[in-house]
Amino acid sequence: MNQKKVVRKNILNLETINWGETPKEYLILKWGENLYPPSENVVNAISKAARKINIYPDPLKKELTDELSKYTGLDKKNILVTNGADKAFRLIAETFIEKEDNAITFVPSYPVFDSAVEIMDGNLVFIELDKNFKIDLQKVIAQINSKTKLIYLCNPNNPTSNFIINKNQLIKILDQEIIVVLDEAYYEFSRITYSDLVNKFPNLIILRSFSKGFGLAGLRVGYILANAGLIEYMKKIEDNIEIFNVPTTSLAGATEALRDIDYIESNINKIESTKLSFYNLFNQEGIAYIESKTSFLFFNIKDTCLSSKEFVQGMKDKRILLKDCSIYKNLNDYWVYMAVPPQKDTEFVIKSIKTLLYSKESGLK
Ligand SMILES: Cc1ncc(COP(=O)(O)O)c(C=O)c1O
Repeated sequence: MNQKKVVRKNILNLETINWGETPKEYLILKWGENLYPPSENVVNAISKAARKINIYPDPLKKELTDELSKYTGLDKKNILVTNGADKAFRLIAETFIEKEDNAITFVPSYPVFDSAVEIMDGNLVFIELDKNFKIDLQKVIAQINSKTKLIYLCNPNNPTSNFIINKNQLIKILDQEIIVVLDEAYYEFSRITYSDLVNKFPNLIILRSFSKGFGLAGLRVGYILANAGLIEYMKKIEDNIEIFNVPTTSLAGATEALRDIDYIESNINKIESTKLSFYNLFNQEGIAYIESKTSFLFFNIKDTCLSSKEFVQGMKDKRILLKDCSIYKNLNDYWVYMAVPPQKDTEFVIKSIKTLLYSKESGLK
């Protein structure tokens, strides 16, 4: 059989990605998780739930939705729990994108939205962020027309770690007749949310994740906040084809994490203080950086005479995995992405960066 003939064109056209190995003995700082382990309470809740994995998980995700309602201050009708925030991108694309609808996205930004739109036959309209990695509102409004269905705003943005939009700008975009997808995956770090707009604008969809602030990336839990009407449409898809999508253990762990918020807060405070140690290092070494509103750092090593590719390889040789951001559209060859390491590893990472910068092989300083 000629497999190419039967596979959908969109899938044939999707990029084949090699994510590379992530050996356990390496310090993995390329995905941007919160690297502190879960609390004992969360681990216990997961173990307890593990005893019930012979039965399907709760399709209504009631306990978690109740806790999320308290946490967000929104009604349960405004909340849809998903299998990680990444799954929300597919739900959104499946709900809204018809063949050749336009979806606006920014570069550089989190690319999973783009892939979800492509799979559904939508057209991507790329708009470059400005030199400070912010949106240019006039450019955005100029790109919106009758074919525009969605716009994706990642705030704070991955990989740049900053806010790309403010509330007034968001409202101006919401005033257009398009669905606005606002990604707040890093809300626990940024502490700024526009969730109060969900019931004022029927076209706003907010995404959140348990992978970042809550440190539960392995559980794969996220959620959508939106007007009840939009939630119902997206929920229809889940109810028809993936009713048991979030595992029992994941539901239990995420629910407990919301009840154990002080533990999360204390880890976030540690991450914030570690960021300061890295800003000090960057200032000393002439490394430019963006003040991060997320769980990761985004810095530019141009003045060290190393490219991001060389820097990331040099750190890999020291068993630390970072992300070379030259893979992103609209970024030069010098940007590096690094999760904030836990306190126990911070000194090792700082030393490794210093050794790399001062090493004879790099011919520097
Ligand atoms: C901006 C952004 N949105 C969504 C996600 C995906 O989150 P999840 O792990 O919940 O699928 C990530 C993960 O890196 C992210 O950075």
